[in-house]
Amino acid sequence: MCGIVGYVGPQVAAEVVVNGLRRLEYRGYDSAGVAVVDDGRISLAKKAGKILNLEKLLAEEPLPDCGLGIGHTRWATHGGPTDRNAHPHTSDDGRVALVHNGIIENFAVLRRELEEAGVCLRSQTDTEIVAQLLGRELAAEGVTLAQAMRAVCARLDGAFTLVAVDAQSPDRVVAARRNSPLVVGVGEGENFLASDVAAFIEHTREAIELGQDQIVEITADRVRVTDFQGGEASVRPFHVDWDLQAAEKGGYDWFMRKEIYEQPKAVADTLLGRHGADGQLKLDEIRISESELRAIDKIVIIACGTASYAGLVAKYAIEHWTRVPCEVELASEFRYRDPIVGPTTLVVAISQSGETADTLMAIRHAREQKAKVLAICNTNGSTIPRESDAVIYTHAGPEIGVASTKGFLTQLVACYLLGLYLAQVRGTRFGDEIGSLAAELDKMPAAISAVLADADQVQALAAEFVDAPSVLFLGRHVGYPVALEGALKLKELAYIHAEGFAAGELKHGPIALVEDQLPVFVVVPPQGRDLLHEKVVSNIMEIRARGARTIVLAEQGDTSVAPYADVMISLPKVSTLLQPILAIVPLQIFACELATRKGHDVDQPRNLAKSVTVE
Ligand code: F6R
Repeated sequence: MCGIVGYVGPQVAAEVVVNGLRRLEYRGYDSAGVAVVDDGRISLAKKAGKILNLEKLLAEEPLPDCGLGIGHTRWATHGGPTDRNAHPHTSDDGRVALVHNGIIENFAVLRRELEEAGVCLRSQTDTEIVAQLLGRELAAEGVTLAQAMRAVCARLDGAFTLVAVDAQSPDRVVAARRNSPLVVGVGEGENFLASDVAAFIEHTREAIELGQDQIVEITADRVRVTDFQGGEASVRPFHVDWDLQAAEKGGYDWFMRKEIYEQPKAVADTLLGRHGADGQLKLDEIRISESELRAIDKIVIIACGTASYAGLVAKYAIEHWTRVPCEVELASEFRYRDPIVGPTTLVVAISQSGETADTLMAIRHAREQKAKVLAICNTNGSTIPRESDAVIYTHAGPEIGVASTKGFLTQLVACYLLGLYLAQVRGTRFGDEIGSLAAELDKMPAAISAVLADADQVQALAAEFVDAPSVLFLGRHVGYPVALEGALKLKELAYIHAEGFAAGELKHGPIALVEDQLPVFVVVPPQGRDLLHEKVVSNIMEIRARGARTIVLAEQGDTSVAPYADVMISLPKVSTLLQPILAIVPLQIFACELATRKGHDVDQPRNLAKSVTVE
């Protein structure tokens, strides 16, 4: 939520910053702004709406050419999305410009204090309060921007990344970080600050991860990181293993569509090197000892939104393979209900961004209760893996479309790997199957490609249902989380009523929603020895009898369900537990296509932002 960029170096700062903001626009698109320091003066431009509006403004009224600047793309919290509330904000005397991501919780007290001191506030934001406080600190003789930042941070409660420039220090940008993301990009004779490496990936792939409560000061040739008390802080440098191409649309109309088509590679990359020819799983990065893993008597998965649906799939797989009880809980609910966790609980936090505030707060709570925390995350340098005991990185590459797609598939893969690894370590009765399941996982990239090759059929369906006021999704077992995720994709992109149900629950209420011509997607499990498949076929018959249009996702050659399907979408044959990896893909394409046909911005749906860094 909110994207931040800072730059110092020989290039034209306004251009570098605006280009960086464009790559961060997925984090918020309520307004955008940039400030540069030139000749002892701050010049700024800001505009409500998407970055395009800022670019138009800059084309009419360019900022001076200089090598120091900061910028911001906003997801509004305090104050509506207006020009006035757009960042950067300045101090009364115009000496300081500041951008901010997060929420200052003691904002009302600080605002009152400033008003009583006669400061005339121009916006409704909590950010301007910080800019004003910073200006007042700097007014004292001999105080540097870093010292002023430190003094102000000591007065703030809440979550913040703050990035500031001072007209009187035209060679440096100073930033502070608590509970909100910030990374440093280390270039040759130039340095960068950003919420995400995507902002500077075209200039450098060398980055530094910042810790909690740290201040960073960048000049063109130096990066200095200190803690909030002023002591030198240790940092972790890292190399970004993807490049500019990965952060561009590459000929697709939407990042989301590109990311859907990247899924075979994302899954293959996530599997790479994680099991040997002997079929044994190798998760070297799990820094929890085998004896500790054997002692675990409960697993709690915490996540939000799409990631929580990956967690629901994981519950079915992990409990089946390990026989360890596994709960899935929305991160936003977890710490507020006094959950029962302790030293023998493994808490698994799933987060694509690694910055989701609800998930972060939940893992902190779990660690206070002495639980072991393992993160499944896609973002190197982010907070959640850093604050966890262990991490399994998914290697999806940057996910820029706000709606998660390849993030979800790679989370599923990481969950399967974790479940199989736990089964291997604990020596459960499924030990013998680990090799064959790992081999089956290896076939998933090709199977996803096969599903993608049939996209035309799903696109035609989106054209047919473009005016449908409501769509339902049904599934049982691991098909149930797929139904939930299919409905979420449609809600967030197409803005129409969509709901996912466990197919068996239908008769307990939701079937009342079924009426003539209502489109209902049904995920049918592979035909097997148990009754699961037959039960779902019965559910399809029930809704069809009430006039629904049934769109059935079933394995190739499933003739038993065909008579009850208005439309059949065939999926390659695969074990039941792994089917979600394939079944979700047509639903992603359907949502993307339907939203495109409705004329919506698929990458930046209304009211949303990727990386929800406020609770
Ligand atoms: C929906 C979506 C969200 C995220 C959720 C968690 O398409 O993307 O529901 O899954 O906000 O985000 P992460 O995984 O970054 O913690």
